[in-house]
Amino acid sequence: MCGIVGFVGADASNRSVQVALQGLGRLEYRGYDSAGVATIGSDGTIHVVKKAGRLTNVVDALAKHPLPESSLAIGHTRWATHGGPTDQNAHPHLSFDGRVALVHNGIIENADELASELADRGIALASETDTETAVHHLALELAKDDDLLAAMCRLARKLRGSFTLVAIDRDNPNHLVAARRNSPLVVGLGEGENYVGSDVSAFVDETRDALELEQDTAVDVYSDHVVIVDFDGNPTQGHPFTVDWSVDAAVKDGYSTFMEKEIREEPTAVLETLRGRLGTDGKLRLDSSSISEDVFRRIDKIIVVACGTAAYAGYVAKYAIEHWCRIPVEVELAHEFRYRDPVVNEKTLVVAISQSGETMDTIMAIRHAREQGSKVLAIVNTHGSSIAREADAVLYTHAGPEIAVASTKAFVAQIAACYLLGLYLAELRGNKYVDEVADYLDELNKMPERIQKVLEQEPRITALAEELKDKDGFLFLGRHVGYPVALEAALKCKEVSYVHAEGYAAGELKHGPIALIEEGLPVFFIVPTPRRPELHAKVLSNVQEVRARGAHVIVIAEEGDDSVEEFAHQVFRVPLSTPTLMMPLVTVAPLQLFALRLAQAKGLDVDKPRNLAKSVTVE
Ligand code: F6R
Repeated sequence: MCGIVGFVGADASNRSVQVALQGLGRLEYRGYDSAGVATIGSDGTIHVVKKAGRLTNVVDALAKHPLPESSLAIGHTRWATHGGPTDQNAHPHLSFDGRVALVHNGIIENADELASELADRGIALASETDTETAVHHLALELAKDDDLLAAMCRLARKLRGSFTLVAIDRDNPNHLVAARRNSPLVVGLGEGENYVGSDVSAFVDETRDALELEQDTAVDVYSDHVVIVDFDGNPTQGHPFTVDWSVDAAVKDGYSTFMEKEIREEPTAVLETLRGRLGTDGKLRLDSSSISEDVFRRIDKIIVVACGTAAYAGYVAKYAIEHWCRIPVEVELAHEFRYRDPVVNEKTLVVAISQSGETMDTIMAIRHAREQGSKVLAIVNTHGSSIAREADAVLYTHAGPEIAVASTKAFVAQIAACYLLGLYLAELRGNKYVDEVADYLDELNKMPERIQKVLEQEPRITALAEELKDKDGFLFLGRHVGYPVALEAALKCKEVSYVHAEGYAAGELKHGPIALIEEGLPVFFIVPTPRRPELHAKVLSNVQEVRARGAHVIVIAEEGDDSVEEFAHQVFRVPLSTPTLMMPLVTVAPLQLFALRLAQAKGLDVDKPRNLAKSVTVE
């Protein structure tokens, strides 16, 4: 996820760059590992300033060497997906002939093919990004008819994946062109000047009149008008709307908290994590790996090291990877791993899971594993982070930056990445055939839509939180992959609502926790699908045991599972036919929403809970 801004005014001035920088400042929540701006000077050349690190690095560079006055500017704040956060990989990218500058948000899935076409023409890439292939192809298209809009449409038709693109043409400095597919783009309409942005926060200081663009459309933006077309060049229209949010809310996309916004982004986080994972050979691919396929074939044990929520994603991985690959998987809290003298060797694959990539406990566990000769594969959300750098192989989650301290969208993205790893190993080691893996991937690709459906129950979840806001204890119970979800739900409640909450494996109930049950205690059950009768029946018995002792029973169950109705006070539904192993992706969302609403009902600061930090960089 990246932030994009574009500005076109009537006259050349410093204002273009100022508006772009102001927009980028507001968009930094979308990504902040590098940033850049570009303008066209009166000398007819494109000037680019781009830097790794926060936007302030660009601002400092501009203070020393200002860009020339210009009537337009484009800007970008990056969250790396292809290539680490370096000056070279930062946007805007310039075409080989210097005619076009381009910024991009999304993932271009056929970047490898586009790069080899460029290589055939002798055009070398200067960065490791997928974006750079697009800017060179755009320049090649533009050379055909000098029409930036038509060239952008032809480029868009060539690209696979998701993209918002904004480009400027050195030879036509009075307009910019943007295009979108599966990635956001809005147009801001001002007085004698116009804007584009990833969202309205890019220009909300300047205008509140905006246009929403349909999927697969391109827009030609001048200072006094805009032209919108589909990718075949047919005229189409945007949907006008007025921004009635405060600037603060605009950054949160209209949501009151980042936590809510990030829960709502879960379908996208999963979709982006899955995107572009099949190579042209039909095989799954990792982002980077110095681990040979032979080493992957020889491993006889996997140990997942992680902390908190990331460790719970690891528990889900255990169920999936053991089932698909028949390799034993242990899950170890990273801070415990190093100090207990674990049995690891060159046949052990250590999988480190981390959103921030900077958790010191996890870094130390990785170092220990590598000292013992193990290979380390990292599942990380932050490009260029310490864990990504120190690992032997990396599988990035593409959840975008997570700002709220409590992890939500990163959790589902981590689970999706773990499934990908399991399927990668299963295929490589011959546990599953390519077509079987493709079937699993088909199911995985249905998950974003299923999560979306679950999130639609939000009004009932809010009502439940309001009803239960004065309770001071909560119990969450699940079995099989529902167990890590129970642990995660309890953690979320503790973290943001400051209530005592316990997560247990439902089968453990009779071994102790049942003593906690008293009249009115809220007990949440994650009920397995009735298609797994042996699991379902056991959890249903637990539901009855708890209900008989007076608990307030809330159930997350599959659509059509009527057996729970009789015993539950409230039932939340997950879509029918979700494969059992993939259930956590849909069952966790209502529980995260519940924790959020409970905290809000108590009037707490959801995004910054007391005593916690987003990145735990000390042991
Ligand atoms: C819980 C939470 C923490 C993190 C843990 C690991 O909501 O955010 O439990 O999951 O501190 O952090 P990362 O994933 O950055 O290594």
